[in-house]
Amino acid sequence: MVNTVLHLHIASWIIGVLLALFVGHGYSRGKNVKVPHMILRLIYFAILGTGLYVFIEIPKANMPTNLMMLYNIKMTAGIIMLGIFEFFTISSKKGRKMLVPAVIFGLLFLTLLYLGFRLPMGIQLFGK
Ligand code: HEM
Repeated sequence: MVNTVLHLHIASWIIGVLLALFVGHGYSRGKNVKVPHMILRLIYFAILGTGLYVFIEIPKANMPTNLMMLYNIKMTAGIIMLGIFEFFTISSKKGRKMLVPAVIFGLLFLTLLYLGFRLPMGIQLFGK
């Protein structure tokens, strides 16, 4: 079950990132992307819900404190990323300069990929 939810987590953040880019670029081109933006906001709950579920289900009794710390950082960064999706799309809607939102978006996303693929569940690309 946890593995299925982890796959749902991956699927939902992939859809979230693609939709955020689509909505942000849509607004800057003056397109009507209100419905995709609403769907993006629903996706936040899928990302958050699946992430929290996985965290609640993993055995924590003998977890080393450094790993627990990494989980806490991963989840905090994940929640901040949801805010950055809004920062990105709304900045674009308001016609603001996109450099700062785009850089924060990119850096935080890379950090999340690193942390997620470093943590022990699912795919492990970094560390042990
Ligand atoms: C857009 C935001 C997010 C991105 C890009 C992201 C990315 C990732 C990635 C790449 C993984 C690793 C998947 C694997 O190893 O197969 C992962 C796992 C995980 N994520 Fe997220 N995540 C996001 C949001 C969140 C949120 C909001 C939470 C919880 C509050 C969360 C909690 C978790 C947990 C607990 C895991 C399992 C870690 C493990 O043991 O491998 N994530 N996420």
